[in-house]
Amino acid sequence: MLTREDNEMLTQVGPGTPMGELMREYWMPFGLSNELPEADCPPVRVMLLCEELVAFRDSNGKVGLIDNNCPHRRASLFFGRNEEQGLRCVYHGWKFDTTGSCVDMPSEPAESNFKDKVKIKAYPVEERGGIMWTYMGPRANPPGLPELPSNMMEDVVVSAYMRPCNWMQALEGDIDTVHTLYLHLGLTQYEDTPVGSWAWWHLQNRAPHYAAVDTDFGTMYGAYRPAMEGMNYWRFANFLMPFYAMTPPGVLGLEDKFRAWVPMDDTHTLAISSNTRSPLFGPNGERPKGQWASGATELRPQGTGFFDRFVCVADMDNDFQIDRDAQKTKSFAGLKSIFLEDQAVTVSMDPIVDREKERLGTSDQMIIRTRRRLLRAARSLQEGETPPGVDNPEVYAVRSGGTMLPIGCDWYEETKNFRAGWVEHPELDRAIIGGVPAV
Ligand code: FES
Ligand SMILES: [Fe+2]
Repeated sequence: MLTREDNEMLTQVGPGTPMGELMREYWMPFGLSNELPEADCPPVRVMLLCEELVAFRDSNGKVGLIDNNCPHRRASLFFGRNEEQGLRCVYHGWKFDTTGSCVDMPSEPAESNFKDKVKIKAYPVEERGGIMWTYMGPRANPPGLPELPSNMMEDVVVSAYMRPCNWMQALEGDIDTVHTLYLHLGLTQYEDTPVGSWAWWHLQNRAPHYAAVDTDFGTMYGAYRPAMEGMNYWRFANFLMPFYAMTPPGVLGLEDKFRAWVPMDDTHTLAISSNTRSPLFGPNGERPKGQWASGATELRPQGTGFFDRFVCVADMDNDFQIDRDAQKTKSFAGLKSIFLEDQAVTVSMDPIVDREKERLGTSDQMIIRTRRRLLRAARSLQEGETPPGVDNPEVYAVRSGGTMLPIGCDWYEETKNFRAGWVEHPELDRAIIGGVPAV
């Protein structure tokens, strides 16, 4: 159980809040590069840590991220003309480049130097792996981008979805391992999977044991249950500061992926994912044919409002399109995709979950540990301590996934090489999991 004070510190991300200030120490993904498909294309409204911003791609292809409101008389730059190396406000024609400098002020007399004194708030932007990143922190020389392997590879699947709830309860879904066996696999029987595959072992024991530890990048857990003689089947997953998760499905040593739960404001979160392609999934992450919840998550056409990007068609207003017949016979939740299964339960907690009313069990220890880690980092920052990972971007080069280990071994040491990014493991084969995507 968290106190109200802790819950507020954990969830509130606006300017001046401890958690908002913590996040500003890190580079943050804020959108997909293809949202700004070409030079001088229409700008996009961006809500990030409760700030209203406008992103635009200038004539050289460089992306700028600036205040939504013009510093002159506060008109929105979203309506601006994107032309010749800058975004020009349509009210009186002031024009700003990607660094925030005012490069033209046609409304002032030619001899005026007022233009050189005016700046618009602008945050530095980098693009990598199909994702746009920004740094909103206090340093004049920002740290390096986190070295997440799947953001630094060629052939990856990048996607984004908006989740209309607080960022932390959204993130907690990705480190809540035991829900997989109910929400996603509640009607999948071990008898229907290949004998001896990981799915076969996984589905036979729906109440695993846990080990959770702090790491240099955040926290990690392993959940384990007995498998063949003398062995345990383990699933490892990571939380990386300040809002990344690497979920456990797949083979440890082969999977490169992450999902960022980026707070737009306190009640809207942008989930940005990057994964290596898995032969189990379709090109857009669809489940294999034959499984009921095989649909890709359908999105509304992109709108132009601050909360109109990457909006799912299934939402609270249509009960996430739950199919009650399917829920009796085909899937535990009766929802159409794995993402929607997670979306529905997380959003159904309320925009900001009341953690004073929770009753957490032993299976929730990763969630408890991660909350403490974040709260500690936010408090330490107030005392001047640099948050974990900010000056060590290489600690992000890690992996998650499943593996078999001898019972009683030193699991942390035994898996070090498999949890490290960039190490090749040609001896491993994805077929071992038995074709069930959430395993
Ligand atoms: S309000 Fe933008 S130029 Fe006047
Ligand atoms: Fe899930």
